[in-house]
Amino acid sequence: MMASETDTQSGPQHVAVIMDGNGRWAQARGRPRLFGHHAGAKRVKEIVRACKPLRVKYLTIFAFSTENWKRTQSEVSGLMTLFRQYIRKEANNLKKEGVRVRFIGDRVKLDKKLVALMNELEELTAHNDVVHLTIAINYGGRDEVARATKRLATDVALGTLKPEDVDEETLPKYLDTHVLPDPDLVIRTSGEARISNFLLWQSAYAEYEFIDTLWPDFSDEEFSKIVASFGGRNRRFGAVPA
Ligand code: IPE
Ligand code: IPE
Ligand code: MG
Repeated sequence: MMASETDTQSGPQHVAVIMDGNGRWAQARGRPRLFGHHAGAKRVKEIVRACKPLRVKYLTIFAFSTENWKRTQSEVSGLMTLFRQYIRKEANNLKKEGVRVRFIGDRVKLDKKLVALMNELEELTAHNDVVHLTIAINYGGRDEVARATKRLATDVALGTLKPEDVDEETLPKYLDTHVLPDPDLVIRTSGEARISNFLLWQSAYAEYEFIDTLWPDFSDEEFSKIVASFGGRNRRFGAVPA
C-alpha cells in the first residue's frame, strides 16, 4: 500500500523502529548483553502503550534480523527465550488493550515452540484494532523480497499470474507486510545511521529519525517529541509542492 498521502492525520500513522543499543547499554553497566535485551523488552511494552494517545495506529519493531544469527549462540538462544517469555507474559495484556499483533520474517528457521506461540498470539489478537503491533523476527528486507519473488514466480509458473501484470501494486502483495500501510516514519536508536536490512521496499518514502539514545533509555517523552515533530515535515513524494 502507498503511504497515506490523503490521510487527514498530520502525525505518522505507521512508525517503524529499529531498536538498537541494548548491548552497549548493558556493557556500560558492566552487565551481560542479555541484561540489555531484557531492559529493551520492557521498553517495548511501554512504547506499545504510548501509541494509542499519540494516534500511532501501526507500530513495527525490529527484534531480530536475518543477520543476527551471526551472534554468539548464547546471545541468540537468550533472545529466543526472551521472545517466548515476552509473548507468554504479554499475551493477555495485549489482547485486553486492543493490540493486534503480527509477526513478519521467515519462521522456518525459528524454534517450533516459539512459532507456535507467535501463531497463538496472532490468533488471540486477530479481532483487535486499537493499535497494530508488528514484530520482526528473523526478518531481513532482502530475504523478504527474495521469498516474495519465489512465491510470485510460482504463481507465474502455475499460470495464476501473468508476467505483464507484475508491477508496483502486485509485488508488495507477496511481502510479509502485505496487509500493512507503508511506514511513515522510521526511528533508529543508538546513533547508527543505517537501516540494516529493515523494510527495504516499504520505506522508500519514509521519513527517518536517527537518535543517539540507546534503546533501553528511549522514553515515552522522546517518542512523543519525535512523533510531534513529524507533522512539520514536508513530504513531497517526488512532486513539487503546490
Ligand atoms: C538491538 O540491540 C537488539 C537486537 C539486535 C536484538 P543490540 O544487541 O544490537 O545492541 P548493540 O548495538 O550491540 O549495542
Ligand atoms: C539491527 O540492529 C537489527 C535489530 C535491531 C534487530 P543490529 O545491531 O543487528 O545492526 P548492525 O549490525 O549494527 O547493522
Ligand atoms: Mg546493534
